[in-house]
Amino acid sequence: MESSTAGSTGMAEFNVRDYGATGNGSTNDTAAINRTINAASSAGGGTVRFPSGTYRSANSIHLKSNLTIQLDAGSTILGSPNDTYDPPEPNPYDDYQDYGHSHFRNGMITGDRLTNIAFVGSGTIDGGGNLITGNPKSGEADKIISLTRCENLTVNGIRLRRGGHFAMLTNACNNITSDGLRIETADDRDGWNVINAKHVRIVNAKIAADDDALAFKSDWALGKTYDNGDVRVSDSDLSAGCCNALMFGSETCGDFTDYRFERIRITGASKSGLGMVSMDGTTISDVHYRDITMSGTRSHIMQKIGTRRRCGDNPGVGSIHNITYTNVTGTYDGARGTAYSPTLWGEAGAANRIRNITFDNVDLTVPGGSPTMSTGVPVNDPNDYNPKAIGTRPAYGWYLRRVDGVRFVNSSVQFTANDGRPAVIANESANVVLDGIIAERGTDSPHDLGFQTVNGYCATGTNTSGGMLRIYTSSSSQNCAPAGNRAEAEQAVCQGSIDSDHGGFSGNGFCNTTNAVGASVEWTVNAPAAGTYTLALRNANGTTTNRPMSVAVNGTVVAPAQAFAPTGAWTNWQTVPVTATLQAGANTVRISATTAAGGPNIDYLERQP
Ligand code: GCU
Ligand code: CA
Repeated sequence: MESSTAGSTGMAEFNVRDYGATGNGSTNDTAAINRTINAASSAGGGTVRFPSGTYRSANSIHLKSNLTIQLDAGSTILGSPNDTYDPPEPNPYDDYQDYGHSHFRNGMITGDRLTNIAFVGSGTIDGGGNLITGNPKSGEADKIISLTRCENLTVNGIRLRRGGHFAMLTNACNNITSDGLRIETADDRDGWNVINAKHVRIVNAKIAADDDALAFKSDWALGKTYDNGDVRVSDSDLSAGCCNALMFGSETCGDFTDYRFERIRITGASKSGLGMVSMDGTTISDVHYRDITMSGTRSHIMQKIGTRRRCGDNPGVGSIHNITYTNVTGTYDGARGTAYSPTLWGEAGAANRIRNITFDNVDLTVPGGSPTMSTGVPVNDPNDYNPKAIGTRPAYGWYLRRVDGVRFVNSSVQFTANDGRPAVIANESANVVLDGIIAERGTDSPHDLGFQTVNGYCATGTNTSGGMLRIYTSSSSQNCAPAGNRAEAEQAVCQGSIDSDHGGFSGNGFCNTTNAVGASVEWTVNAPAAGTYTLALRNANGTTTNRPMSVAVNGTVVAPAQAFAPTGAWTNWQTVPVTATLQAGANTVRISATTAAGGPNIDYLERQP
């Protein structure tokens, strides 16, 4: 009997059993599943329901628009060893990325140019160990869910197992929400590749992959560049075997901006825990990581600009700027091989340096155990995005090359076994500030912090025993913030960009906060004793509308909507006083925009008296 009933969602429900699916685990149910999808689609959309049972599917399932695939508890769509999936479609652009990224039809569940698709329920889609992780032969599938050019995709609750090259590949799909997705593909390859995507919300994901667990990429598979951004990922667990846990790239044709990653636990990656590479001309900007713990990550954090330029529009060399890491820990015991020191590696040319990066409360531990070595620049293959494409870093903690405007606040680096290298080396860079860094000292290391051709550095801090840091500089100039109680916004954690295009500011620039609710500037303000102080906030508001911000001290709001009135022009600056109680020693002062316009441009915070 073929029928539809009103499902719990209010949408018409189409039960695959009513269309001939057996769910007996051995019969090939694909034809019945596709019949159900077609019936739902002809009815204008609805819920395609899989009751408990195992639905072997030896051919590709073709999705349609306006469908919810509901996988009930105990239901599994199971892949098949027969080579009977749709063949890969020809792609004139397949030279620009590898085979798996270039072909979309050879999947278990595929769709192109669809709107309003959802996967819900607590059931499973399992490749069954039959999906291919390398280049498949015709008839073989190498992905579970493969979607291109779609709008409004929901993936809630379901589990994807043994996904071949990709458990899920979405390319040019926008408006994606996912809550409670589980991916178990640790013996296969990638978890979810989110390619060419805008407006993505992912919460409560648990992804265990071998290659990339959760990767944001922008390739040339669809023959053009796409802008990427407005992405939020939170409360998720990620792990990778060979490769990267939370990754930007390597395919990086279109630009990426406005990403926030919060409360993420990473439990392994033989390449990067938090990786970000601009290989193909992309600009990656305004990415904020907060409350991230990493363990078993061979390269805790890496950013690199490369010169591969593998897109169809003859791209130039890319850039990375305005990235913050707040409350991040990383530990690694060496079990996966020698660690790759945390690295920021820009390219030659002012625009291709890595710019305006802040590490606030970032504590990284590496295995250590390396002998003393040359502090010279290691070799680099600029066409290779992998951590190993850069030779052994001459610092165990941070190696910074060709960066401009990197600031560490309240951060530390330590090793497990004594290491003969400095903790931090910055090379061919500008404006590197280590504010209160704690750096473990190797007994044979030549120094703790090295500044090699750095135009403007400032370093304060101690080693882990509270002793002085040994700082070595060559061809470098010191530039510390003016003494006194003024803290420039360019030395704070600025959610936005450090700009200098409107004159009259003090220091090197001001924080142009992102125009969004919550855009913030955060300083560490020291007070000589507990008591009441005035915090003077210098700012400019060139609009005609108040730009209120909430002011919080040590996490407690002291002014929920402090006004920042118009100043008549972006070059006119005013000082707004806020009264606050500070504790003795360090205090965190955070001002956050309360309206979608964001805050005014913020020049500095000055503690008075
Ligand atoms: C302009 C101005 C910026 C300012 C922005 C805003 O773009 O140049 O400095 O931050 O407006 O409205 O926030
Ligand atoms: Ca702004």
